[in-house]
Amino acid sequence: MIAEPVRFHYAACFQVAYHSNFGEQFMRNVMAMLLLCLVSAPPAGTQTARPINLMPAPASLQVGAGQLVIGPVFSVAITGHTEPRLQRAVDIFLGDLRRQCGMPPQNTPLSDPAKATLVVNSEDGSKEVQEVGEDESYTLEVSPSGAQLSAATTLGIMRGLQTFLQLVEVGPNGFAVPVLTIKDQPRFPWRGLMIDVGRHFMPLDVLKRNLDGMAAVKMNVFHWHLSDNQGFRVESKRFPKLQAMGSDGLYYTQEEVREVIAYARDRGIRVVPEFDMPGHSTAWFVGYPELASGHGPYAIERKWGVFDPAMDPTKDSTYKFLDEFIGEMAKLFPDQYFHIGGDEVKGKEWDANPKIQEFMRGHGIKTNPDLQAYFNRRVQEIVSKHGKTMEGWDEILRPDLPKSIVIQSWRGQDSLAAAAKQGYRGLLSFGYYVDLNWPAWQHYEVDPMAKAAADLGDEEKQRILGGEAAMWAEYVSPENIESRIWPRTAAIAERLWSPQNVRDVDSMYQRMGAISHRLDWLGLTHNSSYVPMLRRIAGSDDVGALRTLADVVEPVKDYTREELAETPPLSSDPLNRLVDAVRPESMTARHFSELVDAFVAGGSKPGTEAEIRALLARWRDHQVELQPLAEESYLLKEVMPLSRHLSALGTAGLAALDYLDHGEQAPAAWKTEQLALIEQIKKPKAQLLLMVAPSVQKLVEASAGAGSGSPAR
Ligand code: ACM
Repeated sequence: MIAEPVRFHYAACFQVAYHSNFGEQFMRNVMAMLLLCLVSAPPAGTQTARPINLMPAPASLQVGAGQLVIGPVFSVAITGHTEPRLQRAVDIFLGDLRRQCGMPPQNTPLSDPAKATLVVNSEDGSKEVQEVGEDESYTLEVSPSGAQLSAATTLGIMRGLQTFLQLVEVGPNGFAVPVLTIKDQPRFPWRGLMIDVGRHFMPLDVLKRNLDGMAAVKMNVFHWHLSDNQGFRVESKRFPKLQAMGSDGLYYTQEEVREVIAYARDRGIRVVPEFDMPGHSTAWFVGYPELASGHGPYAIERKWGVFDPAMDPTKDSTYKFLDEFIGEMAKLFPDQYFHIGGDEVKGKEWDANPKIQEFMRGHGIKTNPDLQAYFNRRVQEIVSKHGKTMEGWDEILRPDLPKSIVIQSWRGQDSLAAAAKQGYRGLLSFGYYVDLNWPAWQHYEVDPMAKAAADLGDEEKQRILGGEAAMWAEYVSPENIESRIWPRTAAIAERLWSPQNVRDVDSMYQRMGAISHRLDWLGLTHNSSYVPMLRRIAGSDDVGALRTLADVVEPVKDYTREELAETPPLSSDPLNRLVDAVRPESMTARHFSELVDAFVAGGSKPGTEAEIRALLARWRDHQVELQPLAEESYLLKEVMPLSRHLSALGTAGLAALDYLDHGEQAPAAWKTEQLALIEQIKKPKAQLLLMVAPSVQKLVEASAGAGSGSPAR
């Protein structure tokens, strides 16, 4: 059993944390209290309470005493309103629960409410087509004898079931959920993940696993970026050359699209299709060159970047085509929203086409953005005629479009605020681009309501619907895409669901680590793909030394990968290098940095120096093991300079610690030499960054410090 006194401390802390609506400083204090509670020594002979690793953090949580045991006879009853979707949600939940606990699948019939472990009560069902802003709130009450999950709608039940799954932990007497009460609702109604399947096609199993991941962290919009210069990915029956000539045979049939939509719906997720136009559209023109503004012929684009081809906005035939195409897709995709892209139109084909120039003169259209606005107005009429609401990236924002459209901002909160001020609804993707390989904290700090959005009036704020993580697909394959999306997207999901004052980064990282392992149980491959990819690089089953290196490097950030490439990267390039295998964020480097910061500041925990030394020694020694394998694998050969550098960092760090331990000041010449080497080491190699270099630099600097001697330990 869990020790009650500790449990109570913990409960008290959490209650304050999530009931509070005070400012950030207070939140930090509360979180510090929470940490104190967690690390405070339990009374002799008792066990420390486990942290409650909910992510996203709920709006309100009160933890009581005791727990509800989850055994093989776990059963669910539905009272109140029911519908097939709710029954399926319960079935999915039971399957996930059994898998999580290692129990074989079993068809569990619904139980009598008087006997059930979990009673689910929904007042109402769900809309025929899931809508923005449907009630997703729920209340979960767990007692030692059973649990009650109540919600206004099926969607709220789905969210609460995910919370329940996250609460299940192994304990001394079996699996159990702590006694608690949660009252929860989202901060924003639109919490999405965009996956670009245009640049690299993603098979259905990848999409379904990501939908499972989204449901686990309460995301509710799958934005499916279905066409780009490099591929057109949906079957059109009306215009079959779109997929036949624009996809290399890699596209979704309409039946498969329906399958994904149904799968998403059963997890409370809307599916918004995006067909990017008038730019980012080369793949359309392979089969239908008459849509384009240039001469053609066109071929599927194999490079990355922003390209010249664009639809001809001056021809009526373009709109006739789009009317029929959008009509067909509007029937296939039931969601109310229809994304037309609209980003990054270069206008070069427009400039070079005399007929387009003549049209612009004749219609008093002065600039290319004005011409795009004309195109958007006509497309908006078509989208609206087919019963849909148009959505597009920042660039479509022009005051002459109706206020019903939705703007997705990839440029920042300021343009989101500008849209809201003009009466448009919007969502934020700036800061949530997971392809840029940022650390989770950097995404976590981005808030849709920050910067100019913070100064909006209440009514304007209502127009900010939420945000979307964006997985642009230049450098992802079905093998590594999940490791780019997860677990960092859980931090974005929390930003969009949890109260704005839930901001503690250490708490986020701790809970994100726990969620990452829960996603393993759902079958996501962000962790499981790692070692097999390393084995392929090493050409060996023995990946110990390579893993030592791989664990402390990260891919270069932002768009540096393109800049550093010796030849232009192509969509056909293999994605099997170390840069493709390693995690976007090194948790080992983060941990090492925490250890070094604590050590250098003085007064760190006992064992800190020993742990730092153990890591440094492993880094110093790994190269000797890795070197022989490098002769056998070209994939390994390119990372050997990094391996030598990691070894040098290990040696430098250990030498610095020796100086500190002996109370000697490191010689100035040694320090200068080491710092120069570290500067070299910080530069990217093989498109990777050695993330532990700055912390080793701190050790070197501390060892040659201004005579302050050894930090207190
Ligand atoms: C975008 O990143 N061009 C939407």
